[in-house]
Amino acid sequence: MSRLLKFNIFRFNPEDNLSEPHMEEFVLEEADSMTLFVALNRIREEQDPSLQFDFCCRAGICGSCGMVINGRPGLACHTKTKDLPGEITLLPLPVYKLVGDLSVDTGSWFREMYTKTESWIHTEKVFDPNAEEERMDNQKAVEIYELERCVECGCCVAACATSRLREDFMGAAGLNRVARFLVDPRDQRTDDDYYEIVGNDMGIFGCMGLLACEDVCPKHLPLQNQLGFLRRKMGITSLKKIFKK
Ligand code: SF4
Ligand code: SF4
Ligand code: FES
Repeated sequence: MSRLLKFNIFRFNPEDNLSEPHMEEFVLEEADSMTLFVALNRIREEQDPSLQFDFCCRAGICGSCGMVINGRPGLACHTKTKDLPGEITLLPLPVYKLVGDLSVDTGSWFREMYTKTESWIHTEKVFDPNAEEERMDNQKAVEIYELERCVECGCCVAACATSRLREDFMGAAGLNRVARFLVDPRDQRTDDDYYEIVGNDMGIFGCMGLLACEDVCPKHLPLQNQLGFLRRKMGITSLKKIFKK
């Protein structure tokens, strides 16, 4: 016999002056291979059409369904109810601006972080649309691709103690992004240029290294390696700067 699942869901509409943050209970019969995506849609269709949450791809690709699931940030479309106890508590991701209920605005956070970290190729080369495409070493392309797999779900930032303490911290997603450009041979920035961006407490020196980010990343990005790589690189750059004086 299938279980009756009890959902405790955070409710609050910041647009409504009469709305107060509270938890609301819903009960739903579990179905085979049910994901939280299916469960939340059924609750919205059958019990409360005003419930707000974000979904787009249902396949762990768009990154829009991040939420705190029984205390742990994760993707709702990738979470099967059979892997959870009968009582499920859902909260919106912290750090980001709340849109309503389980929906948060990760887009503005990522846009701001990409601007701050100058997330684009910096090169003096003038683009020639008629030139043959330049080849890249296969190994290097794989290395960059590995870091490009981030789906911007925001779970790593929501799990990060530093991000909870200071809102200007770039978080693992931001630091991973910087590492992605650092290894890209087309980007002509020097280590000193990168130091200006991440060699501070908003960047790699604000990271406490406890790796909650890597634990929750649904795409299993090698965040530990990237944080270590950046810490070593920026540490050496900082020493060089001191001895140059
Ligand atoms: S290791 Fe650094 S970036 Fe990752 S969760 Fe901890 S403080 Fe945040
Ligand atoms: S690094 Fe992982 S957890 Fe962080 S935003 Fe990207 S995919 Fe999500
Ligand atoms: S709906 Fe796209 S990642 Fe979950």
